[in-house]
Amino acid sequence: VLYVQMANVTRLCASKSIVTVNGEYPGPTLVAREGDRVLVRVTNHVAHNMTLHWHGIRQLRSGWADGPAYVTQCPIQTGQSYVYNFTVAGQRGTLWWHAHISWLRATVYGAIVILPKLGVPYPFVAPHKELPLLFGEWWRADTEALISQALRTGGAPNISDAFTINGLPGPLYNSSAKDTFKLKVEPGKTYLLRLINAALNDELFFSVANHTLTIVEVDAVYVKPFPVKTLIISPGQTTNVLLTAKPFYPKANFYMSAAPYSVIRPGTFDNTTVAGILEYHNPHSASESSFDKDLPLFRPTLPRFNDTGLVTNFTSKLRSLATPQYPAAVPQSVDRRFFFTVGLGTRPCPVNATCQGPTNTTQFAAAINNISLVLPSTALLQSHFTGKSRGVYGSNFPVLPLSQFNYTGVSPNNTNVATGTKLLVLPFNASVELVMQDTSILGIESHPLHLHGFNFFVVGQGFGNYDPVNDPMRFNLVDPVERNTVGVPAGGWVAIRFLADNPGVWFMHCHLEVHTTWGLRMAWLVLDGSLSNQKLLPPPSDLPKC
Ligand code: C2O
Repeated sequence: VLYVQMANVTRLCASKSIVTVNGEYPGPTLVAREGDRVLVRVTNHVAHNMTLHWHGIRQLRSGWADGPAYVTQCPIQTGQSYVYNFTVAGQRGTLWWHAHISWLRATVYGAIVILPKLGVPYPFVAPHKELPLLFGEWWRADTEALISQALRTGGAPNISDAFTINGLPGPLYNSSAKDTFKLKVEPGKTYLLRLINAALNDELFFSVANHTLTIVEVDAVYVKPFPVKTLIISPGQTTNVLLTAKPFYPKANFYMSAAPYSVIRPGTFDNTTVAGILEYHNPHSASESSFDKDLPLFRPTLPRFNDTGLVTNFTSKLRSLATPQYPAAVPQSVDRRFFFTVGLGTRPCPVNATCQGPTNTTQFAAAINNISLVLPSTALLQSHFTGKSRGVYGSNFPVLPLSQFNYTGVSPNNTNVATGTKLLVLPFNASVELVMQDTSILGIESHPLHLHGFNFFVVGQGFGNYDPVNDPMRFNLVDPVERNTVGVPAGGWVAIRFLADNPGVWFMHCHLEVHTTWGLRMAWLVLDGSLSNQKLLPPPSDLPKC
């Protein structure tokens, strides 16, 4: 049972009242075992409408429990409850849950740990201990006020004041040293860190001073292990890493730091650094808990904020385990091919108003294939299931950009996006290949695209414009990484494949919350199959009403 309630939290010397689950920030960790049926009753005791999303959970035939507001459900209104009911099938590892309405996920989020089936070991050395490390983003201001203000002016919302590790900004912010996450380790032992990027708008580099991290899993799928000094994790993504403590007591402390990756201008994103402290248990000291601040402190060297080379190098190392026990089920043939542009754009300022968009006559917008999705005031999945789609959505989402241009070259004169509510309809079990192409409109940017309801395989990526003749020849159809959120490279493209084996309406959007808000979002409608176990289940009786 989760209670959505307000709580007062003090960070960076100031208190504010935030929306939480059970009064905790970050929220409680949900622990399940592969194969478990999960029932979560959510009761809303705050003035905001609420929904929760179980990010990365496949939700086979249980789309009603997925959570994005106005996509699979109407919000849970104040005083109301809803039971999310789903089964965790064929997945094990780290995922997370978060609010999926407006910007409430700023403070409403927590880890999901899916343990392997009883008796099934990890395909890597058993860790001595494991723990989640959630990266978050903190604003001194109220984030709901901030985003509604930005929507009124058409401008960019204010950037955050700090990043956090498990809710704590750490010693690199003024008067914040007491709010530092500390991890105490024993020499020689191995720790499994379940990293989750729950920040709203920033991809993050992460590094631990004088330690190597071994990547073993992303988005609850095992990968071929590889060592790194620095990793990149985008909003929505999870990464399990092994950290092996030094064999002997090192008489030192070490920062574990995260700072943003961005190709846009400094000043337009939060360029601060969050640090936690890795400390060693001193075998010569009686006390377990005391932190010895007199020891030398080592800091990791984080990359330059715009180090795209490091990002590309890291992502190209990610490979599925692809063993008989954990195969990579990459679709080898394709039934439906799609090409989507993803990027920013503009909308004209309303008449007689001044705006604070890229110019004072425009507002910021973002789109997929130049359509900025407008969410209806009812839920898309309900409209579909009840056969009442007329006036709610169209079924004609474009499979290609309506006008072709040099996507990563000089941007077109007209940067306006269209608005609409269109779904892309897929027959059950269609094998899909989707290329997502960044555009240079208002500047190239990296976009972490998240697909609900599926994992996909990242079969290729590159810079510049996608070449449909030559690029597919280099696709990896053997052991590509399988995940639910992938970065479309800044000024480049990514190709993914997935099997549409899950009937329902599935949201796909940039996990940079500001871009989702501006319309970088669309939805797929996967139809029922002919067999009885290929159909979307009927909605639960307590499904909220709009
Ligand atoms: Cu993690 Cu649609 O979101």
